[in-house]
Amino acid sequence: MIIAIDGPAASGKGTLARRIADHYKLNHLDTGLTYRAVAAALLAQGMPLGDEAIAIEVARHLDLAKMDKSVLSAHEIGEAASRVAVLGGLREELVRLQKAFAAKAPGAVLDGRDIGTVVCPDATVKLFVTAAPEARAKRRTAEMQGKGEDASYASVLEDLKRRDVRDSSRSVAPLKQAADAHLLDTTEMDIETAFQAAVDIIDRTL
Ligand code: C5P
Repeated sequence: MIIAIDGPAASGKGTLARRIADHYKLNHLDTGLTYRAVAAALLAQGMPLGDEAIAIEVARHLDLAKMDKSVLSAHEIGEAASRVAVLGGLREELVRLQKAFAAKAPGAVLDGRDIGTVVCPDATVKLFVTAAPEARAKRRTAEMQGKGEDASYASVLEDLKRRDVRDSSRSVAPLKQAADAHLLDTTEMDIETAFQAAVDIIDRTL
């Protein structure tokens, strides 16, 4: 069983993916972390984010079990990740890792931007989780402020919109809803309501 969850930044897909994986006792991979890990390594080495050969080399040595979300969740790393994510050769390398993860028993929940379209086109269930940019910016600002990071609603909203455009307009594997994905708009939902809605969709499909 494979559950594919795609959507823009701060749509709630990450939290949903984790809860769904717990609920159905499946493995979970936040594929955004793979792009973040590569971006963070390039930044740490002082390499340009467009250096595809080095990015691919980093991806080849990536250990999914060792990616540390607490280190990689910084806002600047997300921004850098969306820059390396336009590199087609890098994506091929990361998609290979992600597919191998999805193939392991007992099955998995993967969340990202291209899971239903590229990584797991035959997923058992596909969800496309979205929310209005203003709602996403509000959540992300609160989350960042909760971690003591410096964040203003206006700048977070602007960053999110810029990232949406970059992620949706790139030529390789752009962010888009797969034709057979169920749309879940969480603008007016808290996480509990969104989780129940997702479980309803999944149980109906199984
Ligand atoms: O989901 P997260 O914010 O961690 O993703 C960081 C960036 O990585 C995204 O903005 C996107 O550009 C890229 N990404 C991607 N494909 C995925 C997951 C993330 O292109 N499957």
